[in-house]
Amino acid sequence: MTSQETNQNQEMLNAIEVEPVVCSDIPMAPSNLVSLIQPSVLADGRKQAWQQLELLRQKGILKPDGTIFDLGCGYGRMAYPLRSYLNNKGRYIGYDVFGPFIDFLSSAFAVDKRFSFFHININNEQYNQGGQATFCGWPIADRSVDTTVAVSLFTHIDTVITAAYFNELKRIMKPDGMLFMQMYRTNNPELVTETAFRTVRLEQFWLNLFDQFGCEIVDQWSGDMALNMFHDAWNVILKMG
Ligand SMILES: C[S@@+](CC[C@H](N)C(=O)[O-])C[C@H]1O[C@@H](n2cnc3c(N)ncnc32)[C@H](O)[C@@H]1O
Repeated sequence: MTSQETNQNQEMLNAIEVEPVVCSDIPMAPSNLVSLIQPSVLADGRKQAWQQLELLRQKGILKPDGTIFDLGCGYGRMAYPLRSYLNNKGRYIGYDVFGPFIDFLSSAFAVDKRFSFFHININNEQYNQGGQATFCGWPIADRSVDTTVAVSLFTHIDTVITAAYFNELKRIMKPDGMLFMQMYRTNNPELVTETAFRTVRLEQFWLNLFDQFGCEIVDQWSGDMALNMFHDAWNVILKMG
């Protein structure tokens, strides 16, 4: 990665001026939930979610009347700004392995019927110890999702679940569906890391995975390998079809 590339993500986000809208009818996630994935050393992830979604909208991968699947939705960082983007035909589906996120979001968003949240009981050493080791799919209809966002999701899951998720994404996404994912990549085998806290994979691993599932990179940009921003280093938009 060049130093020019390294700053691309932050520069693109800084250039986007958006004022987060505070929803009076939906409470923000409490700090005990937020701090689980956004320790205070990180920049404000909520503001960045608004900038990130605006960037995705500008890149044409969000449709106001589309179905958006937020895989590893966390405390709903992306869900709040999506309320403003989706029109009354748009739908949002969020999945996460950490039950308290889903309990909070299901209750908080109950007033907005476009939004639904589901718990998936897959084992994760950081977020869901004792969950199931195997993945049997999401109860989502074939070819029904326009856009999937997986922000810092594949940073926390192993290669077996990663491949199983790609397999299932191929089933649920529309032929022209797009996946936005953020993860870490490296070309230095010594930097490869495999933990539920932070996984860094060889770039070639990702390229092979995309090839295996017939996904095409339509856009990509890079962030900072340091952990001082609430996003991972490699941003990729994939055409899944
Ligand atoms: C770093 S957080 C990112 C959360 C959210 N995407 C965001 O941008 O704020 C990673 C999330 O992935 C969830 N997660 C971990 N393993 C998962 C899995 N196998 N399936 C779905 N979500 C998972 C965690 O519970 C956590 O909420």
